[in-house]
Amino acid sequence: MIQKPKGTYDTYGVESRKIRYLNELFTLLMDKYNYSQVRTPIFENSELFHRGVGESSDIVTKETYDFTDRGNRNMTLRPEGTAGVVRSYIENKMYGDATKPTKLWYNGFMYRYERPQSGRFREFNQFGVEVIGSSSAMLDAEVISIPVNFYKLLGLKGIKVNINTLGDLESRNNYRQALKDYFKPYLNQLCTDCNNRFEKNPLRILDCKIDHDKDIMKNAPKMIDYLNEESKIHYEKVKKYLEELGIEYVENPNLVRGLDYYTHTVFEVEAEVEGFGSQNVLCGGGRYDLLVEMLDGPSTPAVGFALGIERLLTALDYENIDIIEEKSLDAYIIPMSDNESEYAFKLLNHLRMNGFNSDIDYMGRKIGSNFKQADRFNSKYVIIIGEEEIKTNIITIKDNNTKEEYKIDANSIISFLDERIIDDHEKI
Ligand code: HAM
Repeated sequence: MIQKPKGTYDTYGVESRKIRYLNELFTLLMDKYNYSQVRTPIFENSELFHRGVGESSDIVTKETYDFTDRGNRNMTLRPEGTAGVVRSYIENKMYGDATKPTKLWYNGFMYRYERPQSGRFREFNQFGVEVIGSSSAMLDAEVISIPVNFYKLLGLKGIKVNINTLGDLESRNNYRQALKDYFKPYLNQLCTDCNNRFEKNPLRILDCKIDHDKDIMKNAPKMIDYLNEESKIHYEKVKKYLEELGIEYVENPNLVRGLDYYTHTVFEVEAEVEGFGSQNVLCGGGRYDLLVEMLDGPSTPAVGFALGIERLLTALDYENIDIIEEKSLDAYIIPMSDNESEYAFKLLNHLRMNGFNSDIDYMGRKIGSNFKQADRFNSKYVIIIGEEEIKTNIITIKDNNTKEEYKIDANSIISFLDERIIDDHEKI
C-alpha cells in the first residue's frame, strides 16, 4: 500500500468541516478589516526564499523542499507566505494603487522539511496577512489584533501575546555588533548552529532552543538599550495602541523570530493550555520594512503575521471548543425502484439548483434503511417517488421531524420548501 509522505496528513469528515468553518470565519473577519485576498504560487524560484526569508534562517538552510524542474530551473515549495506575497506586490506593481496601504490576506499550504512531531508538519496550513506601504504603528497593533480577535471569536481562552522590537536598521546593526562583542569569548560554549548564527545573524542566538537556558544568554545585551529614538517612539506607540484595544501582552526581549526579515515590532501568540506540548506557538509575525527593497521593489515598509491552522485545531481540542456546525440536508429523495430513478434524479437537480441541500438514494436501499440514511444526513424532509407519484405528478413529502406527510403537486415543491426552510437557503 502506498502511504502518505512523512509529515503530511489527509483531511476528511469532521476535520474538513472544521477547516471549512475556520476558513469562512477568517474570510469574514478579513472583510471586517478591509483586507483583500491574494493567491500566489505554491512553488517559486528558489532565489526568492534565499533572499527573502534569509540565508541564516533554519527554514532556508535546512528545511526547504527544493527541486529542479524539467527546464533546469531551481524551484522551492513555499516554506511561508510573506516572500511570495511581497514578490507579487512588486511584480504586479501594487505600489501604484491609490488605496495605500495594500492590505492583503492569504491562506494555503506551506512546506518545511522539519522533523515531524505533534504540531509540526512538513505540509501545513497558514492564514496570514501582509500590509505593505505604511509605517504606521497603528498597523503593527492592527496586525496583532487580527489573530487575537480571531482566537477570541473562536472562544479560545489560554493565549499569551509576546512582543518585542528589533528596531530599525541602525538600531539593529548596533545591537548586532554588541551581541557579537559579547558572545565572541563564549563561542566554544555555544552549539554549532549558534556558531554559524554568530556570523550570519547573531540575534538568532538569543532564541536558540539548545542554549537558551545558559547563563551567558541571561546576561546578553538587551535590544532595548540599543534602540535609537525613532525606534523607541515606534515601539511605544505600538504598545499604546495595543492597550487601547485592550490586548494584554508580555514584553519578551529574547523574542527575535526565526526569519531574517524583521525590523521593529515582532510578536508571537502562544497557547497557554496545559499539556499542549512544545509546539505551542500559534502564530507569529512582525514588521519587515526592508524586505520589499531587498527583493528589488521600491523602499516600502510592511507588517504581517501568519497563524498555523493545525496548531489552532489542537488548541481548540485542548480547550474542548466544538466549532462544527451541524451538517444537515433539506431533502432526501427515495425512488421506490429503478423505474422512478430518472424522474427522481431530475427532481433532485431541480432542488439543488433552487438552493436546497439535497441528496438521493444511489444504492437501491429498502425503504426502512433509506429512512435511516435520511436520519444520518439529518435531512429535514424526505421525498418518496413511486409509480403513482410519477403518474399523477403528486409527490409524497414527509417532515422528518414531525413525521407529518404531505401530498403536493411536484411543480410546487420549491414554494413548499421555501415556506418551511428559511435559514441556509440563501447560500448559493
Ligand atoms: P512562522 O513563525 O514561521 O512565520 O510561522 C507562523 C505559524 O505557522 C507558526 O506560529 C505556526 O503556528 C505555523 N507553523 C510554522 N511551521 C509549522 C509546521 N512545520 N507545522 C505546523 N505549523 C507550523 C511565518 O511563516 C511568517 N511568514 C509570518 C509573517 C507574515 N511575518 C510577517 N508576515
